[in-house]
Amino acid sequence: MDKAQRSKLTRIAAGIAAAAVVVLGGMYIAGSSSGSVPPATVDFANISAEQKQKLFDRGLQVFRAADCAACHSSPTTGAELAGGMAMVTPMGTLYGTNISPSREHGIGKWSADDLYRAVARGMAPGRKNLYPAMPYASYHDITRADVDALWVWLQAQPAVEAPNRKPDMNFPFSVRPGLALWNALERPSGEQHPGGAPEAANSLDRGAYLVNTLGHCGECHTPRTASFAMDLKQSLAGNVIEGAYAPDLRPKSLAARGWSEQDLVQFLRTGLSKQGVMTMGMFPVLQHSSSHMAEADLKDMAAYLMQGEKPESRPPVAEAPQTQVSANGERVYIGLCAGCHGVDGQGQPHSSLRLDTNTTAMFPTPLNLVRVIREGLPERDLAHGERMQAMPGFADQLSHEDMADLVNYMRLRWGRQKGDVTPAQVADVIRTAESH
Ligand code: HEC
Ligand code: HEC
Ligand code: HEC
Repeated sequence: MDKAQRSKLTRIAAGIAAAAVVVLGGMYIAGSSSGSVPPATVDFANISAEQKQKLFDRGLQVFRAADCAACHSSPTTGAELAGGMAMVTPMGTLYGTNISPSREHGIGKWSADDLYRAVARGMAPGRKNLYPAMPYASYHDITRADVDALWVWLQAQPAVEAPNRKPDMNFPFSVRPGLALWNALERPSGEQHPGGAPEAANSLDRGAYLVNTLGHCGECHTPRTASFAMDLKQSLAGNVIEGAYAPDLRPKSLAARGWSEQDLVQFLRTGLSKQGVMTMGMFPVLQHSSSHMAEADLKDMAAYLMQGEKPESRPPVAEAPQTQVSANGERVYIGLCAGCHGVDGQGQPHSSLRLDTNTTAMFPTPLNLVRVIREGLPERDLAHGERMQAMPGFADQLSHEDMADLVNYMRLRWGRQKGDVTPAQVADVIRTAESH
């Protein structure tokens, strides 16, 4: 290469580098700004006691519907605003922060504008980018009035003097300003789920706001793109997250698994319906959110989720399709499970579940089924007086072959799925469950 060629290449490289700096710089500025913040809906300096009470009541509803406590409570004391809950992500571990009004550790010095920027835009004071594990991509469309009410409620709670835990993220995700680049590419701008409104006249619009915005159901139930943003083209189409399958919640899929609006309301209110019981990542949703919500709100959510679809009726399966079921799968079921769940999966009220209408065997992946069978479930209180007995775990008693046969038996008999799960797939599913 002669001198002229070399200097030409150097100039091109310098040009590319300069362009990259400009582009990245622009992205940084865009991604670390909160954009425009709608004005407060309340004059906080001059509110009447009556207005304050109204805001307080709505604030509590928003706090419950948005499930803030699932991530911001203390795993040791249970205090709902104290922080410390770990969130394990593929990029490292994050901890929910203290959102009590502590002036030192919490958000005691924050204004309602600050809270709006954090919740709807992912920006804390001091141009600090928050990790998208804080679901600001979903909360993006929250109304300013709801944030104002939430702020009034939060500021009226007792302060908890508990320091925050530092995130433990892997490089390069540990470089917080790098999140601005993610924001520039992936943070929603403009209305993300048009039509949803908390005071809409129509049940579907209110339900859309409760499911997509406050309830952030898609953070678990919507598949992710390669850059870990929610793939809204496949909203609520089902996704594997935190070692569990969060099922497809689109209307036709819900109907195919036998859900009606009424059953959804019962499931969200009590954690239990004939389709199953809340486990894994869904159980905290019950504890901190849906069991505390007004029945009218749950009905709106159910109406939005079902979009008028009616549950598919199907004749009860009297017998397993014997031609396809291995004798071993049936033997394992009768030996280990039928004592509690019944030979025909009919269950026993209040002590074990019916499996003949349970959805777990209907999912495309056997992940949750294998996990429940291996790990069991503890005895626990659900909500509104529902209690469940314990189910023992069978990890030590079942080889991958036995597990595959058992799962195939259940999928064929009650799941309307193929019985084609292999022992190698069982091993794979166990790795997924254990890797998180
Ligand atoms: C799915 C879990 C999750 C939910 C639900 C959630 N948060 Fe967060 N939040 C987090 C995590 C994790 C962080 C810390 C992010 C970080 O370190 O960048 C955070 C950070 C914050 C912060 C910033 C605090 C600070 O000191 O910088 C505020 C404020 C906050 N959340 C408020 C809320 C409110 C209010 C709600 C309910 C409307 C809520 N969060 C719901 C996970 C969650
Ligand atoms: C000692 C009684 C008992 C035995 C034995 C038992 N179970 Fe269970 N099972 C339960 C109870 C009780 C629950 C609900 C526990 C809870 O929700 O906390 C449950 C829950 C389940 C669920 C969860 C469904 C959902 O909705 O998420 C599945 C699937 C299941 N059992 C399958 C099995 C299989 C397969 C076997 C045999 C390998 C088995 N069980 C053995 C009592 C039992
Ligand atoms: C933290 C993750 C997470 C969030 C957030 C979440 N879910 Fe789930 N959901 C799951 C998982 C995992 C399952 C499967 C285990 C079970 O059935 O309990 C599930 C199961 C369900 C089921 C049962 C479906 C079936 O056919 O058995 C429904 C209905 C449901 N979720 C609705 C919702 C709604 C509505 C929201 C928002 C208010 C929501 N979920 C938020 C993780 C989540």
